[in-house]
Amino acid sequence: MSSPFLWGVASSAFQIEGALDEDGRGPSVWDVFSERPGAVRDGHSPALACDHYHRWAEDVELLDRLGVNAYRFSLAWPRVVPTGRGAVNGAGLDFYDHLVDSLLARGIAPVPTLFHWDLPLALEEAGGWSERDTAHAFAEYAAAAADRLGDRVDRWITLNEPLVHTTYGHALGVHAPGRILEVPEVMRVAHHMLLAHGLAAGELRSRGLEVLLTNNYSPVSPATGSEADTAAAHAYDTLHNRLFTDPVLTGAYPDLSAFGVAEVPGVREGDLKAVAGSADGLGINYYNPTVATAPDEGSGLPFGFGEVAGAPVTAFGWPVVPEGLGRTIDLLRGRHGDALPPLYVTENGCSYEDRVSPGGRIADPERIAYLEGHVAEVEAARERGADVRGYFVWTLTDNFEWAEGYHQRFGLVHVDRATQARTPKDSFSWYRDLVAARTASADA
Ligand code: FCB
Repeated sequence: MSSPFLWGVASSAFQIEGALDEDGRGPSVWDVFSERPGAVRDGHSPALACDHYHRWAEDVELLDRLGVNAYRFSLAWPRVVPTGRGAVNGAGLDFYDHLVDSLLARGIAPVPTLFHWDLPLALEEAGGWSERDTAHAFAEYAAAAADRLGDRVDRWITLNEPLVHTTYGHALGVHAPGRILEVPEVMRVAHHMLLAHGLAAGELRSRGLEVLLTNNYSPVSPATGSEADTAAAHAYDTLHNRLFTDPVLTGAYPDLSAFGVAEVPGVREGDLKAVAGSADGLGINYYNPTVATAPDEGSGLPFGFGEVAGAPVTAFGWPVVPEGLGRTIDLLRGRHGDALPPLYVTENGCSYEDRVSPGGRIADPERIAYLEGHVAEVEAARERGADVRGYFVWTLTDNFEWAEGYHQRFGLVHVDRATQARTPKDSFSWYRDLVAARTASADA
């Protein structure tokens, strides 16, 4: 029997857990970055987040009510290995162990991500992703996590959106660790992250486990047909859609000459071999397409950004273009053909201001329309022959949205920041009904 299509929701440790000092968790880069003045909008603190570390059982109940058959969450590396390398913290693993058992008891497949941006601070202090050693430390941590959970969890995501962590965290300085490096040094960071994925994939596969890599994809169009805009779109596509995908599928980096990089620094013999063919599935996080323009003078980048014309935008200002998800899937298929492994939409969702009615009901028709449009794109792509095996809404509960703090609400469930009370929004019922209908017809 083939496994059922996964209908799920996704979350990440740092955005929901809180309890940053509990049960032996070590600090992460985000703990300290979020304390920098100006780093997080209005100085919002991640210390409590959704208090999921204490309320996880209630959150699993919500998942049960939602009827999903899969849940994507992340393990906090600094909970499992507080100093990044070396001693494993059993108490940290216990937390995920209980979570996994509780999910399985409800027929929900756990889909853990090993790295969703919360690098142990001790590793950052030793150079972070600029150091090759961090990749080895990651593989050791992956092995420890798999040794504990691999008897019950068979599908693992290594990294979440390494490009966003690389660029926002190491080039733009707007995410932790807040570094601003020159382009070649940014590429070194990228390479060490890819190597980390490859080495961890080896550890997971040697234990008979399935390995996924999740990237953020965005189909890119030039703002006009001009040569300069077209070149800009090409450069952005290379960075966004190829840098962390081509090496995994083809064993080679794409041509990075638009970035002035002839050779990616830090690549040693055998590295690309460890990375080639290292994914049994690709996770697609899709939020919006991109329009590229020729760069502003002196920007130091080979592209600029234009406006996605005619699209409504979310509270985050992100354009709503469901067809972009279908385009993304087609782009990957067209580009990689038979080398493309099965696909999973590991994140898709939107942020909107709440409209709480006097009875406490939270109407979010825009979110329902957003999800409806994107699910339809996945289903149409499957009909065109795409091997898409899952769809995960970002996210279950409104949570700590990185540099935006609690300003962006992406949840199917509203969280009252003062009381932590969880209230399912209208979109929760809508998704519950959709999942029920789809899983019933799959069973029939
Ligand atoms: C993605 C991140 C996720 C969340 C959503 C809105 O880039 O993976 O943690 O912040 O965006």
